[in-house]
Amino acid sequence: MDKILVTGGSILNGRVSASGAKNAALPILFSTLLAEGEHTFDNVPLLKDIESTAELLQSLGCESSRDGHTFRVRVSKLKSFEAHYDLVRKMRASILCLGPMLAKYGEAIVSLPGGCAIGTRPIDLHLDAMKALGAEIELRDGYVFAKADQKTKRLKGATVLFEKTTVGGTQNLMMAATLADGTTIIENAAKEPENVDLANYLNKMGAKITGQGTSVIKIIGVEKLTPARHSIIPDRIEAGTLLIAGAITGGDVTVEKCQPHDLDCLVSKMRESGFKIDIGTDSLRVHPQAKFDAVDITTAPHPLFATDLQAQFMALMTVANGTSVITETVFENRFMHVNELMRLGADITPKIQVAVVRGKPGGLSAAPVMATDLRASASLVLAGLVAKGETLVGRIYHLDRGYENLEGKLSSLGAKVKRVL
Ligand code: EPZ
Repeated sequence: MDKILVTGGSILNGRVSASGAKNAALPILFSTLLAEGEHTFDNVPLLKDIESTAELLQSLGCESSRDGHTFRVRVSKLKSFEAHYDLVRKMRASILCLGPMLAKYGEAIVSLPGGCAIGTRPIDLHLDAMKALGAEIELRDGYVFAKADQKTKRLKGATVLFEKTTVGGTQNLMMAATLADGTTIIENAAKEPENVDLANYLNKMGAKITGQGTSVIKIIGVEKLTPARHSIIPDRIEAGTLLIAGAITGGDVTVEKCQPHDLDCLVSKMRESGFKIDIGTDSLRVHPQAKFDAVDITTAPHPLFATDLQAQFMALMTVANGTSVITETVFENRFMHVNELMRLGADITPKIQVAVVRGKPGGLSAAPVMATDLRASASLVLAGLVAKGETLVGRIYHLDRGYENLEGKLSSLGAKVKRVL
């Protein structure tokens, strides 16, 4: 079981590039089910979750191949419409094959994804959306059995208002609506940049989508989609994590190949804390700042503070001047990193949705800690960069799901970080 050993005390300086966005690549890879033929994607990150997605697509009858960061998916007649539990349980995002399979083939059998460390992760909003498009949905033996209209085998456009903003629900509905008869309007749609990237790829395949990036998306159904080529947008969560790595060590770090305005909320909070941040056309630079103040954050759907950056920002606040109140409104259990940060000496009081962080500049000291989920693992690595001594972070298979070679990127900036068995 791999671990990462972080020796605290290095000041990070230099330039580092963000990889392609995991949370854009996953829905885009599932969208290939909408169009038979060969799809080609550039800037696809080398991640466990991408491998899991390829495995699931292969189980349905697709072929895939990778050449560096270029990834190809060849879709022909599917040999199965069943996304099996053994594959879905490894990655919740597998539920994103539901919309495309239902729209293209009129049926789908998808294992219920189950929860994860950060919450129960229900899919009721996904299923309600499919029903709104005329699908019959049956839950049986831990699976979703979905069928489009038995006569036409097609879905029917509709207006769907999400009572709660859902990134995956918006993605599933958008994909399903591309081949439905008539027009679909999504209200209270998720505005995440990854959803915009998905919509842009769907339009490259011939879909008719407008409004992506706003809370109202319109999809006019078409008869057929054809494969295309697309480059995945940069990963804003990785970029934000690298920026915080520079900030927490008092370094001068420029994150290149990113979409800086995807991180406007993080930049604004870091500036409020006292950091000087330069915004370039495809880069963000944080300047050295030895002393910085605690600030409050509340996570919420984009463009507000990203829940996927909450754990990393909390690590920063553990060594800020003052007290930070961190409110998590998206997931019900996304403070799993708190206990581990406290093992490093952080002074945090976790409540149900709120964690009070009393910052202690220079106050962290090394200890063995354990990653519990993807972003928590990044948070512990960041804290290890400033903890006195050697911090050993266990269970970093969580990290490998969403960060391509994080230890290599941090080491290139001067961090003492290495993978150990
Ligand atoms: C996506 O998850 C991301 N995953 C998550 O990133 C991210 O944290 C999340 O969006 C929010 O930004 C991928 O893109 C693969 P949601 P998703 O549907 O789509 C509730 C990471 O670290 N909900 O927007 O599952 C849900 O429980 C991962 O990269 C329902 O109640 O998130 C949550 O409380 C972690 N019913 C809230 O909505 C539903 O049917 C937001 O979930 C669906 C969601």
